Amino acid sequence: MKTWNKDQLISNLKKEGLSFSEFSLIHEGNYTTDDADWNYKDVPHLKHVHELVDATFAAMQDDLITTINVQKVLGIKLPLSVVNYQSGKNEQTYYTTWLFYILIVQTHFEKIETCRTRVITTYHIGYPWLLKWSVPLIRFLIKRNYENLMTSDIPMRERRGQLRKWGYTFYKDSDSYSFPKTMEILKTNVIAPNITTLPLTLSLTDLLPQDGEYFYGRDDHIGLRLVRVNNQLHIFARTCMHEGASLDTSPCVNLKVKCPWHGRLHTPLASFNLANHHPQQKTQDQFTFTLTNNVLTISEASLEKC
Ligand code: FES
Ligand SMILES: [Fe+2]
Repeated sequence: MKTWNKDQLISNLKKEGLSFSEFSLIHEGNYTTDDADWNYKDVPHLKHVHELVDATFAAMQDDLITTINVQKVLGIKLPLSVVNYQSGKNEQTYYTTWLFYILIVQTHFEKIETCRTRVITTYHIGYPWLLKWSVPLIRFLIKRNYENLMTSDIPMRERRGQLRKWGYTFYKDSDSYSFPKTMEILKTNVIAPNITTLPLTLSLTDLLPQDGEYFYGRDDHIGLRLVRVNNQLHIFARTCMHEGASLDTSPCVNLKVKCPWHGRLHTPLASFNLANHHPQQKTQDQFTFTLTNNVLTISEASLEKC
């Protein structure tokens, strides 16, 4: 795909008599440039993570997407047609227009150290000279919007940074992420390290004597959520293996836990009737669960890890 970067766009638009005002916002965090690239390309999170934006998709290819965004500004719904494309390595360019204005945004991310990245987002507001007085207000609205978006995006990137520190990696099938591929939410893209804490034994009489929840371990691929309801025990995963979201803050509703990032529904890995005192065994994913007299034993289903 042939692309024009923001300098070329601005130079051409200046020839049309438009003036430009520019400013940059910088964020540094504990994640990799891959996590930033994934987050900027990740299409389905727009619906589940960002409450202020609704995007209707019009066209999409690996490195370009066009959407009609309906965004709330000061409580009013503002429709904006947005084009977003990869304009270089670790760099994306967006543009949109509204009335007499043009907004061109370039996001560039660079590695500072292992698992630490700096993201520089530069905004260029194009306007007719007569409307120069309105630029401070537009800047104010853009900064507020940036803070809103970052409040939801940074925890996603840093969660992946945390998983990387625990030894996890993430599958991607080329140098950069692709917009359409991020929509395959049933895929397993988290690659787990070899962690051997199994087998282990949990006494439900001690840990979960009545209805409620108990979280075993940490929120990684072998952490477990035990849910006891009406003498039934249901065992859920604590990490979504699509792209690594923690499931701990999502409530269990009708025996399903919804992933907060892209909405994948997680059903129990295993369920047991606690009134049945005969030994019961179930195998799901990498686990074999055995329940005997209110004692749950968790072992590896096979030597192969996911
Ligand atoms: S991380 Fe994508 S559905 Fe859970
Ligand atoms: Fe986002």
